[in-house]
Order: sequence, then structure tokens, then C-alpha cells
Amino acid sequence: MTDRDSQVQGIFNRINASYDRINGLMTLGGHARWCREVARLAQVPPGGRLLDIATGTGVIALAARRREPRAEIVGVDFSENMLAEARTKPGADGITWEFADAHELRYADESFDAVTHGYLLRNVSDVPRVLSEQLRVLKPGGRVVVLETAPPRGLLKLAVSAGMSVVLPLLGQLVAKDRDAYGYLKSSTLGFIPPAEVARLMREAGFQDVGYESKYLGTNVILWGTKPPAARDSGTGTAAA
Ligand SMILES: C[S@@+](CC[C@H](N)C(=O)[O-])C[C@H]1O[C@@H](n2cnc3c(N)ncnc32)[C@H](O)[C@@H]1O
Repeated sequence: MTDRDSQVQGIFNRINASYDRINGLMTLGGHARWCREVARLAQVPPGGRLLDIATGTGVIALAARRREPRAEIVGVDFSENMLAEARTKPGADGITWEFADAHELRYADESFDAVTHGYLLRNVSDVPRVLSEQLRVLKPGGRVVVLETAPPRGLLKLAVSAGMSVVLPLLGQLVAKDRDAYGYLKSSTLGFIPPAEVARLMREAGFQDVGYESKYLGTNVILWGTKPPAARDSGTGTAAA
């Protein structure tokens, strides 16, 4: 783990108790709705397996569980304190919660039907590696669905940047008593790459049919992609008995 990763881990281990409240306030309730949309777009089949990386307090994993109660859902994060919040939520018993670093997933190749994550990529030190880990653990034809923040652009840029610079640290101070942690969330959001660039990195990692839809005046985005189906046998040999 790099120094930056450890720093990020430390921040989420500090803000676990206030995370859901501040997220709800910042997105005016949009976050819960987008998480339900991510769970729907993942299209996990009945009895299938879904991996929610950077699950945090488990909002996407729990939405997926409600949508498809027969699916096997695994929620992973490298913050034990965020996972502890997830474990307390109604419905959490039916989900496997585990520690994992997104750069190094300890799951077998092609072991999940779908992979989801919310607000992971802007926090990691190596986006291409994290995406290729996701491709590795997905079954051929499996879907990845991503919720991310996006840096504000155009006319909104000044207003949103100014708003975030004031509102996030202030909420951090008032609700979490931790202005610095929410200062990090502000700078990681404003400094992250735009959705088109994330989509390009997803294609470079090997995903196909990559697309995205912006939310909340372009400050949030849902992206999706598919692992290419397995190449068919060329069929030159004789059929096995
Ligand atoms: C902003 S929270 C998002 C939580 C949840 N996905 C949501 O949408 O509410 C980001 C989460 O990513 C986790 N995270 C950041 N980098 C990670 C990494 N390298 N491996 C695993 N989890 C990571 C943090 O611990 C934190 O819980």
C-alpha cells in the first residue's frame, strides 16, 4: 500500500460515523438513489455473485441484496471502521463483509457475475491496476458499474467549486468535527479526472460497451462496462465423445 493509500485509509477510518449523514446532505438524498441505480444496472442474475468494492457503509451492497435476495453479495473495503458501520445495518446479515485493498483482490479469476463500486476510483493510487483487478475477477460477459464524482465544468465550475470548498469542510466541522477529512473529500473530487477519461481507462483495461450518464449537474456520474465474452472455440477439431 502506498503512503497515499494509507492516508486515505486513515481518513475513512475517522469519518465512518458521520459518512452517511454528510453524504445524504451533500447530495440532497441523491446518493441513495444512485446506489439503487448502480445495483439495478449490475444485472446480477438470481443466485449470481456480486462484488461491491469500497463498499464503505454498504449502501450499494444492501441495495443489490434488496433487489436480488438470492444473489451472493460480497462487500469489501480497506477501512475496518466503514465495514463496521455496514455490518450494523438492517439486511447486513445476508452479505459477506470483508477487508480488501482494491489494488489486490484476493478472489479467483472469473469468480463474480458483476462488480460495483461507489467513489472508489478517485481515492486509489493506481486506477489502471484497480480496473484490471476488476476485469480479472469478473466472469466473461459480466458487468462493472461505477458511481463516481466528476469535476465540475463550464459555467458551473466556479459555483460548484466554491460551494464545495465552503460546504464540505463546514459540514465536516459541524457534523464530524473533522474539517481536514472533509477537506480531502473536496480536493479529491475537484481534482479527479472527467468521466470521458474514466471511460477511456475502462476501455484500456479491457472493458467493452463502456458508457456513462451524468448526475446532479454533472458532479456525479454512473459508468458501466462489460467484460468481453469468452472467445469461442474455433471448432476445427472433432467433437469430443
Ligand atoms: C467515499 S467512500 C464510498 C463508500 C460507498 N461505496 C458509497 O458509495 O457510499 C469510499 C470508500 O472507498 C474505500 N477505499 C478507498 N480506497 C480503497 C482501496 N484501495 N481499497 C479498498 N477500499 C478503498 C474507503 O475506505 C471508503 O470506504
